[in-house]
Amino acid sequence: MRPLVIANWKMNTTLADASVLATLVKNRLHNESRADVVLCPPYIWLQEVASILEVSAPHIYLGAQNCFAGEFGPYTGEVSAAMLKDLCSYCIVGHSERREHFHESSELVSEKVQVVLQNNMTPILCVGEKQKSENSFESVRVMLEQSLEGVGKDELPKIVIVYEPVWAISTNAGDAVATGDYANEICAKIKEIVGDETGVLYGGSVTPENAHEFAGQGSIDGVLVGGASLKANDFVEICKIVGES
Ligand code: PGA
Repeated sequence: MRPLVIANWKMNTTLADASVLATLVKNRLHNESRADVVLCPPYIWLQEVASILEVSAPHIYLGAQNCFAGEFGPYTGEVSAAMLKDLCSYCIVGHSERREHFHESSELVSEKVQVVLQNNMTPILCVGEKQKSENSFESVRVMLEQSLEGVGKDELPKIVIVYEPVWAISTNAGDAVATGDYANEICAKIKEIVGDETGVLYGGSVTPENAHEFAGQGSIDGVLVGGASLKANDFVEICKIVGES
């Protein structure tokens, strides 16, 4: 697969920020990006970012950060995959912040994976252990298998998995960041479960300074970027590093 870089803006940006950021990323990547890029703004700016990407932005796609597991109905405040599909090609599901703050279980995440697939978008399924330990992979394996419950084998190549160790997310650079070798080892084990045709990415405090470490690894097909995706220069630099690896 082409390398993939995903920007998760989380609950950040005003309308003006979102519009400037998307425009800068688009202009600075020109048409030369060798990586596919997915921008995931908050729901409310999706339409604005879609209109910016509409003109001459090949290889830059739009993604949502979450979706509701049903289609339409009396669920105040929710947004369904059926509503997102006209704007988005991708949808993040099971991010650790949703699992933690909104108590999303892997059972619910598996419903979301299926509903995203049914609506012809690519699910970006996030999994990762809370604490680093000798059994790290075991908890990742359980979370992965539960989150993929009910998903047919033939559907696996249509999904992107992101390995995001929770202890390495949103750190201020330094000690807690996972090393490339460690991330590669876990991503390789994930591939043994989902197969080589499924993209497996790393996420957790990726910056222009450490992106080489992850991009150069055999079992890592790209990165998911949170904090650094809010700075156009840093994000574009990461896209270039990943694209050239
Ligand atoms: P971070 O976020 O790059 O700020 O650590 C990654 C994520 O949680 O998606």
